[in-house]
Amino acid sequence: MFEPLFGTKSLLFGNKTDGRTRRHVYDQAFSFNNIKSYYPIFQDVSDELAKEWSSLVKEEHIPLSIHMLAYALKVALITMFGDTFSDDKDILEFQRCYNVIWFEMERRLTENVPKEGSPRAKAFDEELRKTQSLIAKVVKQRRDNPPIQGKELYIDFVIKLSGDDDELIISDAITFAVGGFHTTGNVLTWGFYFLATNPEVQEKAFQEIIKELRNQEVDHTNVDSLPYMRQIMEEILRCAVIAPYAARFQDFDSELGGHKIPKNTPVVHALGVSLKNEKYWPLPNKFDPDRFSPENIKNRPPLSFQPFGFAGKRVCPGYRFAYAEATVCLVTLLRKFKIRLVDDGQVVNPVYGLVTHPDKEIWVKIEKRECV
Ligand code: HEM
Repeated sequence: MFEPLFGTKSLLFGNKTDGRTRRHVYDQAFSFNNIKSYYPIFQDVSDELAKEWSSLVKEEHIPLSIHMLAYALKVALITMFGDTFSDDKDILEFQRCYNVIWFEMERRLTENVPKEGSPRAKAFDEELRKTQSLIAKVVKQRRDNPPIQGKELYIDFVIKLSGDDDELIISDAITFAVGGFHTTGNVLTWGFYFLATNPEVQEKAFQEIIKELRNQEVDHTNVDSLPYMRQIMEEILRCAVIAPYAARFQDFDSELGGHKIPKNTPVVHALGVSLKNEKYWPLPNKFDPDRFSPENIKNRPPLSFQPFGFAGKRVCPGYRFAYAEATVCLVTLLRKFKIRLVDDGQVVNPVYGLVTHPDKEIWVKIEKRECV
C-alpha cells in the first residue's frame, strides 16, 4: 500500500543484507552522539514557536495540531536535510504537497485505490513529483557541497551509501521525512492536549522544569534531570497510541497461542492492543504519567510497552530523535505558558490511521507565566 509513496527501493522493503546494511549506516544519523548536535535546532525552532505564542493577544485561540505539525516538519527537514530547508518557502511547499499525498494514503486504508488517470490519482502523482523534486534539490546541493567529516546529516549517509542511485536516495529520504515528522507532530499535539486536560500534571511538569533547569535550556547534558517529563512522554506515547501497528512478512515459521504461523505469512503487530491492555494498564484511556514511575515500571514485563515496535533490528530508528525533539518543545512552551482548552468540554476522539491523529482540530489558549 505504501509503495506509491515511498517507492519500491525504500528501506521499508529492504531485507536481509541490503536492509541490514542500510539500517546500520542510517542509524548513525540517529545515534546518541548525533542527537546531541540536533538539540540547538530543536531549541531554535521551539523558540520561534514560543515567540509566536508570546505575540498573540490575550485569549487568542491556537489550532494545536497545525502548530505542532509545522514545528515537527521544520525540525525534521532541517535536521535531516540541512540548510536547503532553511527557507520557510520550501518547507511550506513540502507541507502543501505532503498534505495531499498523506490524505490520499489514509483514504486508501478504508476506500478503493483510485484508477490510473483519475483526478485522485493525478493529484497524488503530481504532488509526489513535486516532493521528489524538492528532495532532488537537496541531494544536488549536498553533493555539490559535501559536509566535513563528523558533520554528516541523515541525507549525507544515504548519498554516501547509494552513490548515484537517485531513485533509492529519494525513496529513503521520503521514508524518513514522513516517518520522522508526522509521528512527532502528533505526539506533541496529543501531549499538549493531555496536559491541557490534566492541569495538575502540567503544574508538576512546570515545577520540575524550574527546579531542575532554572533558566537553562534543556539538552543532552541535563535532560536526565527531568524524570517526570520522561514519564509524561512515555504516557503520551501509550495513551495516544501514536503508531497503532507495524507489519511485515514473517520470515520464519513460528507459533503463537497454539496457532502455527508459517514462514511468509503477512503479520500485523498490533502495538496499540498491547498499549491498552487492561491487564497492565488499568483504566487504559486515563492519562496518568505515574504509570511510568520507577516502582510501577518494575511490575510490568518490558514487552507491555513497545511504542516503537517489537522487532529487534527493525525497531524504529528515530526513537531517540523523537524523545529529544518532543522534550525540547514541551519544556520550552511549558515553562513560558499555561495551556488550556478553549472549550473545556471539547471531546477529542482518536482516529487510528497509519499514525493516530485527533478527529478534529484541538483549540487551546494560553496564559503567560511570570518571569521564566
Ligand atoms: C514518537 C514517534 C515515533 C513513533 C511512535 C514511531 C513508531 C514506529 C514503529 C512502530 C515502527 C515500525 C517498527 C517495526 O516495523 O517493527 C517505525 C518504523 C520506522 N520509523 Fe518510526 N516512530 C516514531 C518516530 C520516528 C522518527 C522521528 C523517524 C525518523 C527520524 C522514524 C522513522 C522510521 C523509519 C524509517 C521506520 C522503518 C524502519 C525499518 O523498516 O527498518 N520514526 N516507527
